[in-house]
Amino acid sequence: MPKASKIVFTCQSCGHQAPKWLGRCPDCGAWNSLVEEIASSGTKKPAAFDMGDPQTLDAICLDPEMRLKSGIAEFDRTLGGGLVPGSLVLIGGDPGIGKSTLLLQAVASLSGRGLKALYLSGEESPQQLKLRAERLAIHSEGLYVLAGTCIENLFEKIGILKPALLVIDSIQTVYTDALPSAPGSVGQVREVASRLLNWSKNTGIPTFLIGHVTKDGAIAGPKVLEHLVDTVLYFEGDSSHAFRILRAVKNRFGSTNEIGVFEMKDTGLHEVGNPSRIFLEERPEGASGSVVIPCLEGTRPLLVEIQALVGPSPFGMPRRTAVGVDHNRISLLVAVLGKRVGMEMGDQDIFVNVAGGLRVDEPAADLGIVSAMISSFLDRPVDNKVIVFGEVGLAGEVRGVSQAELRIKEAKKLGFSRCILSRSNLEGCHHVKGMDLVGIESVTSLMDVLF
Ligand code: TYD
Ligand code: MG
Repeated sequence: MPKASKIVFTCQSCGHQAPKWLGRCPDCGAWNSLVEEIASSGTKKPAAFDMGDPQTLDAICLDPEMRLKSGIAEFDRTLGGGLVPGSLVLIGGDPGIGKSTLLLQAVASLSGRGLKALYLSGEESPQQLKLRAERLAIHSEGLYVLAGTCIENLFEKIGILKPALLVIDSIQTVYTDALPSAPGSVGQVREVASRLLNWSKNTGIPTFLIGHVTKDGAIAGPKVLEHLVDTVLYFEGDSSHAFRILRAVKNRFGSTNEIGVFEMKDTGLHEVGNPSRIFLEERPEGASGSVVIPCLEGTRPLLVEIQALVGPSPFGMPRRTAVGVDHNRISLLVAVLGKRVGMEMGDQDIFVNVAGGLRVDEPAADLGIVSAMISSFLDRPVDNKVIVFGEVGLAGEVRGVSQAELRIKEAKKLGFSRCILSRSNLEGCHHVKGMDLVGIESVTSLMDVLF
């Protein structure tokens, strides 16, 4: 039997080490902060690294061909223009959202370009992967799959196959023999990830790690790895809707403002080149309570429909339900409407929904939410060529938001002809042609311009 390596428990807040697990660190007093690690022998130094000579920044050349492109434009853009050799990319997301599907498609596309890729699955058998690949119509000679969970075995196989790309699905199922704790524990996840990081940096082979977001968020989920990897992408969406957004949260090789939009169909994930059109496709004609707002997802303007339903409450306790927008924001806006406009909705049930399963967290949506609530309360439809955006303050004032011009241009592209915005944003957008711009200073004047 191989000699077991020595284990220590290290406090993640202060670095105190103990031979046994303790609920509370005796040094700093933090609770539940001890994580199992492999003890370093102390005498072994890491191999010397040849630093080369100092050089000026100007003398360093960049090779634009360096990035590997998968050919899936939304995926490449989110990565910052393609995959960088030697990078470690973490893709996090809820179970069942489509992470395995996305990576299988991306890797198949990359391996179709002459790269040898290895897909390690700790969750599915090769037969299950084959079934999925058939569904996605993937036929790639360079794509190798392997079912297994032991990292030592994986490195052995890698030595033989010598792939140019590696996918680990998922990091929570892979373990190392050196630690006795169960796969998926914080210690295991970190140890396995740091070994993969070293391997990837030494060999220059890009590696994808899939990580499940666990129920309580941080514990052993993608959060414990975020500082370690080069790029963190989150795959989000409502599993009851077809739309998925791939969002860059951290990227050492590109902007974190990028998103990629996909649609899940029975033949896998398909790119959505013009998301606004899709989100507005099923908009009801002439219905009250429906308003379109241009929101920003990173640097991308996106038109979404906000729906509100306001009606007298049959119970003593009126209900406030918000899907896709912040619940507290609704209460705040209802209070502003009551106090500043005199439109009392205290005894009304209010439901607000963002159509298409999207989440809008921008304050720029405030004016749109207010308009939708007014429209439903009065049962008067807002013209379907109107868009509305602006932040609403507690005094009822309408404030300017960033990137107004970008928002207006996107709306113009999709055939909207009238835009209600804040007075301050209007001043910066006078030169925009082809759109009737209406600037307001306060929500009290909203009624005059909305209908
Ligand atoms: P999966 O990639 O297994 O999710 P994850 O790896 O994030 O857990 O995909 C999960 C869902 O996607 C599954 O419920 C079925 C659905 N799906 C489709 O709708 N179409 C398809 O072509 C595929 C492969 C999956
Ligand atoms: Mg999966």
